[in-house]
Amino acid sequence: MEVRAQQVAGGRAHPVEQVGPPHGQVGDDALRGRLAPSVGLVGEEPDLDAGSELRRFAGLPPRGHDHRDPLEREDPQHRPGRLFDRMTRTVGLIGLGEIGLTYLEALGHLPAVRVAGVFDPGLADDVILGVPRSASLAELAAAAGDGIIVATPTATHAEVCRDLLRLRRPPRVLLVEKPLGPTLRDVEGILTNAGLAGCDVQVLYHVAYAPEVAWGVGVHAALGPLEGGVAEIDCHFSDLVPAGEEERFRKAFSSSWVDLGINALSVLKRFVRLESLELDDADESAGWYRARSGFVDAAGAAGVARLSTAWSGDDKRTTIRFRSGAELRLDHQRVTGDLVGATSATSFALGDAVPRLVAHYVPMLSEILVEGHRRFSPSDDVTLHRLLLGGIA
Ligand SMILES: NC(=O)c1ccc[n+]([C@@H]2O[C@H](COP(=O)([O-])OP(=O)(O)OC[C@H]3O[C@@H](n4cnc5c(N)ncnc54)[C@H](O)[C@@H]3O)[C@@H](O)[C@H]2O)c1
Repeated sequence: MEVRAQQVAGGRAHPVEQVGPPHGQVGDDALRGRLAPSVGLVGEEPDLDAGSELRRFAGLPPRGHDHRDPLEREDPQHRPGRLFDRMTRTVGLIGLGEIGLTYLEALGHLPAVRVAGVFDPGLADDVILGVPRSASLAELAAAAGDGIIVATPTATHAEVCRDLLRLRRPPRVLLVEKPLGPTLRDVEGILTNAGLAGCDVQVLYHVAYAPEVAWGVGVHAALGPLEGGVAEIDCHFSDLVPAGEEERFRKAFSSSWVDLGINALSVLKRFVRLESLELDDADESAGWYRARSGFVDAAGAAGVARLSTAWSGDDKRTTIRFRSGAELRLDHQRVTGDLVGATSATSFALGDAVPRLVAHYVPMLSEILVEGHRRFSPSDDVTLHRLLLGGIA
């Protein structure tokens, strides 16, 4: 294991990190013990979608209908090293700040994916990455045939994507950190340029893949109709921005609404169909926002979600209230879930075997890069960004 020096002037503050060879699959025994009982409590496997997500953690055996990755023909536990054959996906990473490091750690859990290079001009020359460093976007794109991940500050996404899409050989797949951009103009520019270049753009809504969300989706699918459907949702996301850092955060990430509101919307999208959004109140200088979103549940009944974001505190919660009065409470900070007030109570906790963000990025990257599954369609991307940015244009 190499010790990675502190780096990146102007990045979000983060401690000295370690990067090195993969630590093994997420889904090792420690996790299996924690997750399997929770899956069992909500029934045989109520939602196939959520079931397959949870299996990535729980290491449960595949079901008969699974289309397994060809690289999984061997048990990864028994494989002596990574298998670099033509089935290995090669990806490139742009931006190695706080979340770029999370990508490296998460990708280390996916033996079928190789990091072909990292491009970040802000990195000091003597930083040891453990993966190749690319000198330019063109060099990175040439090395990474299966996709480029953009993990630079939100305000730079449009420019970085434009430069990539103007290359003589633009990437075929562009995976961009949420949100796609801080304005609708940026978002539309990226999507238009990608369309012209024949590039598939996908937005990486990491919280929507969180283990407690996958668990909640299963509970909702199994019990939602019995509890009368979803009547209301409360969703609050806050991050602590250190005093004196507000201006830098605004420049890089725009506002708490742009930075965190997209997390709330992408989580809600997993449970209901979002129809409208109105910004109720905001104090931009204090960094908080409140909004209301109209939605339709699985049975077609209308409901209202209250959303709030802040750059103070460090709290991320979603409460889904059913018409019966039962509540599905998801704590995205503690990675827990509780169903309360229903005929059968159930709960979920990931424990601390895997860092919270890594537990989001492993299933998300596995699903997109290894399984080739697209959970959020291009029209979902447009809808979510219109709801997020339409009201503040
Ligand atoms: N930090 C988090 O907890 C978090 C979580 C999820 C998603 N995100 C998203 O990830 C993205 C990056 O956030 P972060 O917190 O890692 O930022 P950061 O400031 O910590 O790191 C950004 C990195 O990008 C590099 N960079 C800037 N401009 C570049 C360019 N033009 N080309 C190449 N590299 C460039 C910087 O040198 C820096 O190393 C944002 O869109 C953010 O919304 C962040």
